[in-house]
Amino acid sequence: MISILAIESSCDDTSAAVIRDGLLLSNVTASQKVHEEYGGVVPELASRAHQQNIVPVVDAALRRAGVSKDELSAVAFTRGPGLLGSLLVGTSFAKGLALTLSIPLIEVNHLQGHVLAHFVQTPDGGERHPAFPFLCLLVSGGNSQIVLVKAYNDMQIIGQTIDDAAGEAFDKCAKIMGLPYPGGPWIDRLAKEGNADAFSFNKPHIKGYDYSFSGLKTSFLYFLRDRLKEDPDFIENNKNDLCASLQKTVVDILMQKLRMAAKDLNIRQVAVAGGVSANSALRQAFIDHGKRYHWEVFIPPFSFTTDNAAMIAQAAYFKFLDHDFCPIDAAPFVKTVI
Ligand code: KG4
Repeated sequence: MISILAIESSCDDTSAAVIRDGLLLSNVTASQKVHEEYGGVVPELASRAHQQNIVPVVDAALRRAGVSKDELSAVAFTRGPGLLGSLLVGTSFAKGLALTLSIPLIEVNHLQGHVLAHFVQTPDGGERHPAFPFLCLLVSGGNSQIVLVKAYNDMQIIGQTIDDAAGEAFDKCAKIMGLPYPGGPWIDRLAKEGNADAFSFNKPHIKGYDYSFSGLKTSFLYFLRDRLKEDPDFIENNKNDLCASLQKTVVDILMQKLRMAAKDLNIRQVAVAGGVSANSALRQAFIDHGKRYHWEVFIPPFSFTTDNAAMIAQAAYFKFLDHDFCPIDAAPFVKTVI
């Protein structure tokens, strides 16, 4: 029997999961509320909150799975990319536990974890998995990439943002409108009552499959600045329409490059992953593209969209089968690589 404890601490969620023989037994996450009042993640506060959360979260994951520490075959952790201080908490904890129990250590790339969330199997079963090769649109607060997935352990970033990530664009524009952090879910909620064609914002012209979102943020800022001169209540009076129009623009930008990649590479298995994949307009766009372009689309359950250890456990399970363990001196990395 192969039982793995996985730890995710790359940003502001402390998460632990247990997988046994490829079946997810538990996935426990403590989200950090401390950042809300600052309008974004404060790295030092995130590291401290991870320190407070990690023992109870791991304990809860093991208890919920009904697996004792002595039954573990390996300990896995997110090595990067992410915030250094946050990553160090999970990395150090995993190393300490692996050394104490004399079991192997497995490092997981956070981005590969998001992609492999599509292979998580819960005891309820019934999940569909994409077949290789497939394309995965990876969109979160820190990443916007198109990943060509050739195998569990063979992925290539074929397009990525050259500045802000899609989630960052949502969060920054939400902040401009005075919405709380993180703004993505707020924009999604308010957009449901708005007209997506009410306003139009500049779309970037970037070559290849790369993205850019900083221009959209600036265009949104200047648009509001001009309108507020004429009507100080412009944001308040048009919030739903602003959210719906902004959301449509972001989704259009994301889907246009994805369509291009799918056509060029002749791939019809298309998945979405990362925090922004919780967005209802993006999920609908996937369903619509599936019908229109005969794609088979894969949209993760909400629990696996934001950062979670279940996806790290799944990636670790594949690595365990390959005997792909990591040395005890492995240090976290911050940069985006896959
Ligand atoms: O993957 P994730 O949990 O972690 C980070 O990369 O930090 O993604 C968080 C991002 C945030 O930018 C958040 O605003 C965005 O995902 N997000 C959403 C929605 N839910 C989360 N953006 C748009 N619509 C949503 N429903």
